[in-house]
Amino acid sequence: MEQQKRYGHFDDQHREYVITDPQTPWPWINYLGNEDFFSLISNTAGGYSFYKDAKFRRITRYRYNNVPMDNGGRYFYIKDGDTVWNPGWKPCKTPLDFYECRHGMSYTRVTGRKNGVEASVLFFVPLKKWAEVQKLTLTNQSNEVKNLKLFSFEEWCLWNAATDMENFQRNFSTGEVEIEGSTIYHKTEYRERRNHYAFYHVNTPIQGFDTDRETFVGLYNEFADPQVVIEGKPRNSHAHGWSPIASHYIEVTLQPGESKDFVFLLGYIENEQDKKFSAPQVINKDKAHALIAELDTTQKVDQAFAELCQYWDALLNIYNVRTGNDKLDRMVNIWNQYQCMVTFNFSRSASFFESGIGRGMGFRDSNQDLVGFVHQIPSRARQRIIDIASTQFPDGGCYHQYQPLTKRGNNDIGGGFNDDPCWLIFGTVAYIKETGDFSILDEMVPFDNQPGSEVTLFEHLKISMDHVINNLGPHMLPLIGRADWNDCLNLNCFSWDPNESFQTTENVSEGTKAESLMIAGLFVVTGKDYVALCQKLGKTQEAERMQKAIDAMIEAVKKHGWDGEWYLRAYDFYGNKIGSNECEEAKIFIESQGWCTMAEIGAQEGMVAKSLDSCKKYLECEHGMVLNNPAFTKYIYEYGEISSYPEGYKENAGIFCHNNPWVIIGECLAGRGNDAWSHYAKILPSYVEEKYQTLHKVEPYVNCQMVAGKDAFKPGEGKNSWLTGTAAWMWYTVSEFILGIKPDYDGIRIDPCLPQTATDYTVQRKFRDAEYEITIHPNGAQKGVKAITLDGQPVDGTVIPYSAGKHVVEVTM
Ligand code: GLC
Ligand code: GLC
Repeated sequence: MEQQKRYGHFDDQHREYVITDPQTPWPWINYLGNEDFFSLISNTAGGYSFYKDAKFRRITRYRYNNVPMDNGGRYFYIKDGDTVWNPGWKPCKTPLDFYECRHGMSYTRVTGRKNGVEASVLFFVPLKKWAEVQKLTLTNQSNEVKNLKLFSFEEWCLWNAATDMENFQRNFSTGEVEIEGSTIYHKTEYRERRNHYAFYHVNTPIQGFDTDRETFVGLYNEFADPQVVIEGKPRNSHAHGWSPIASHYIEVTLQPGESKDFVFLLGYIENEQDKKFSAPQVINKDKAHALIAELDTTQKVDQAFAELCQYWDALLNIYNVRTGNDKLDRMVNIWNQYQCMVTFNFSRSASFFESGIGRGMGFRDSNQDLVGFVHQIPSRARQRIIDIASTQFPDGGCYHQYQPLTKRGNNDIGGGFNDDPCWLIFGTVAYIKETGDFSILDEMVPFDNQPGSEVTLFEHLKISMDHVINNLGPHMLPLIGRADWNDCLNLNCFSWDPNESFQTTENVSEGTKAESLMIAGLFVVTGKDYVALCQKLGKTQEAERMQKAIDAMIEAVKKHGWDGEWYLRAYDFYGNKIGSNECEEAKIFIESQGWCTMAEIGAQEGMVAKSLDSCKKYLECEHGMVLNNPAFTKYIYEYGEISSYPEGYKENAGIFCHNNPWVIIGECLAGRGNDAWSHYAKILPSYVEEKYQTLHKVEPYVNCQMVAGKDAFKPGEGKNSWLTGTAAWMWYTVSEFILGIKPDYDGIRIDPCLPQTATDYTVQRKFRDAEYEITIHPNGAQKGVKAITLDGQPVDGTVIPYSAGKHVVEVTM
């Protein structure tokens, strides 16, 4: 095996990942901001910021997939004599005497040292503020006086991140800025329809500035050698069109041992229509002044940072486990939950693999994400459910995506992904079980955001179920539509035109026989939840009606969905089997194994056990379970995008981490704790971190969407990190099915499924107004709770009844 170099390590005490070499195998990033103002930041301080929507409100510019990699960000140039360097190494790449990047919970601290000077920058977005703080601390660690020249740098984006990269004939003439004291304002398009602007401020008098990129950088220079920095002299340029930037120039004298703080602030402001201007062409800066005043001293900023840390302390105290296995504990207690917040916030929009331009919030994605997040801030999950449901159509179908800024369904993509409706039940049930708040079901929610079309959320759930029932195919299995969870299994697309999108082209849906076993399983799982909910609400008839539909679906799967050793994946347009031993390639797929085992379809008949065994036999490899096996080696017109990928990548036999937990949950329900654990540990970042830092390539502290599968050129190489449903599914799996602490309507259900080697562990769980300290004694069992005591009293069954206050629970297996 290739020699594995290390680039960093976990610091659990501070909940940080510490990067010690700036030349990571790929930029290792973090996210700042939790609600409205967001930033992406790499380990060299690259990245960008936006307000709510990475497409429509991009604040700073970023160049994707560039040479060199990770080009553009918030850069501080320190000129010390003839040496120019940056605390994060890039862009100058001057070798540093010391480098460290600490990615923490919604903050990043980058520290560099060169020739006796230390520069440490703390980046974070204060709670409820529309601004990124950059607190730079310069320290003279040498014995001589240091006269430093400091240049800051941010490049403005002209708001719409798509047209910013395209429409240069316009863009080069629209850029506008204003400069006032130590603040540079970006106001492109403010004169017309925009009511918002951005600013970049520093809390000290400046000795100069630049706002025109060509002047600052030099037309043929690079970020690594900006003309103005080389000359050591700002030009006080005022941008008119072209590319506006913001750069402050500050002269800093430091005595030996002396340290100085500078608070830089990148802010975003919206003004009311009638208060846009303070004089003709002059933007009204009142709100900017107010925001600056809140964050203009080290003390205020430190206070805001302490509040952010307390916020995360509280969030991460809701579910906390002590197993004695650091690698498990740090993922459960810190990084998995953190990634769940990030995916909840961004869905699949903005990462170093998603441009922030293409996709907004996904209907299915966001419902799944909130299952990883609902215990953290239930009120936000509640709002999200309403927003999502508001993009549904009266027949139960729904927009596949919506824009976070407008919350409107995205017409470019449309609907027709037939798994989408079921996920609304999945998300809503998780919310109610966590909170006990049934009132959400009475919320009046529109269709397609049309005022006047409102029905209750419960009605939305009902039509979601009905959408499946009303769209069954010849085997009484669900019609797949454009695709089910697997966006790339496009059975009604039939495209030979490379300019057609596989997702939005449906050339042949008329008369289709294409059916999905994945949706069948999903329907049974979410259907059971729906039935239980109806019973809880006293809607007996509706419960019975749906139970019949579920029973029929189970029969259809047993009859038409079983291949002998595993569940089929689908039927194609013509009614031919997909994912069958009869197929030439891709004989078995993971999605239907996951969902049909989670649905426990045919458990009595041995189908579940056989399916799980087949996953081990045909799908499992060193790095996890691949999506299908064998991989497709050629494009199949009838199947669509799935067969467009080279072997071992993405939906063609990649390890699509998102769906591994489905099988793991299947294993847990079947009581096979050893198998569940071994699948889980294979894709658990902390285990991967230990073994494969170079090979894995992407951030070792979070899951990525895909790890190259066994048929790939480089098995084990990760791609598409951060924004993946894997986060929520890993969380759901470990918290509820492995460790076995499962919120339910009337309390917490305890049902762990563990490897035989598991030892006693304790989970601290805040639940509504209660706090439980639950200690599990596995006694070598993989599954099966023998006895539970609540505050010393025996409990019947496996649900600890909910009651407010602090409780101690002992569980014997
Ligand atoms: C991506 C999409 C998700 C889809 C999955 C499988 O992760 O965001 O919606 O289910 O790919 O195709
Ligand atoms: C591509 C990707 C898939 C993703 C989809 C989103 O098909 O392979 O993962 O879900 O694009 O539109």
